[in-house]
Amino acid sequence: MPTLLARLEAAAQLDRIADVVRRLAQATAGRGRLGDVLHGRTIGHPLHPAVVQFPVGAWMSTAVLDALPGRDTPGSRRAAATLLAAGTAGAVPAAVTGLADYATLSPQQRRVALVHAAANVTALGCFVASLAARARGDHRRGRALSFAGLGVAGAGAYLGGHLAFALGAGANHAAAALPLVPSGWHRLDAVSAIAEGKLSAYTVGETPVVVYRDHDRFSALVGRCAHLSGPLAEGRTVDVGGEACVECPWHGSVFRLADGRALRGPASSDQTALRTRVRDGQLEVAQP
Ligand code: FES
Repeated sequence: MPTLLARLEAAAQLDRIADVVRRLAQATAGRGRLGDVLHGRTIGHPLHPAVVQFPVGAWMSTAVLDALPGRDTPGSRRAAATLLAAGTAGAVPAAVTGLADYATLSPQQRRVALVHAAANVTALGCFVASLAARARGDHRRGRALSFAGLGVAGAGAYLGGHLAFALGAGANHAAAALPLVPSGWHRLDAVSAIAEGKLSAYTVGETPVVVYRDHDRFSALVGRCAHLSGPLAEGRTVDVGGEACVECPWHGSVFRLADGRALRGPASSDQTALRTRVRDGQLEVAQP
């Protein structure tokens, strides 16, 4: 299986269609405030993995009823069809949040996400066909289509897990960089050498750090964007509601410099902020 996944990640022949889907996602679900909500910025982590629980749970429950000995009683048939319909309706928000996340994936992630989405659309087709069969009274066929849909959805879920855990889609990339900051305080630079109102780039251990000076106040954020590790020090400072922020140069996430709060997506996590202090005219930082 790892070899198959590696081939899928490298399958550049998927890029044409993957790019069409990306443009569609950017023009629709991935945009503006709606995109922020769909990415999960308002809840602090990706929304898609949370909302997929509902359809998956409903479809699994349908399968349990379909497998039980009393499956042909009117009550069991009705309950199975109701769960199936509820899960199928619940697939809509799951698909929309997934489409929003698709807008800013890396090319390697997009290839896997494309097959993940194709599997889920196929599964959805099976469930809709199952509902139609049950409505016609063909419960045997309806059950077979549901089981087929569940199998295909399982393959899609496997790819979703690979996207999240192996390829880091939706993960907080800034948090992953934090353990590389050695414990204790670290000197960055003489205060007099740090420019006012600009981003300054430093490194602590293996971790890039971006520093911002506002008169005699200093803030320091992990320099890798929480979204997909974009170099924040190469971004620009922007004013949001009177507060100095940094805009990531890759996909435009905006973080408040004072504390790393994510004010605009696609990042759904806040940017990790470091503690700062001045000692003997030197700016020092430490893990939060
Ligand atoms: S890497 Fe995507 S917004 Fe920063």
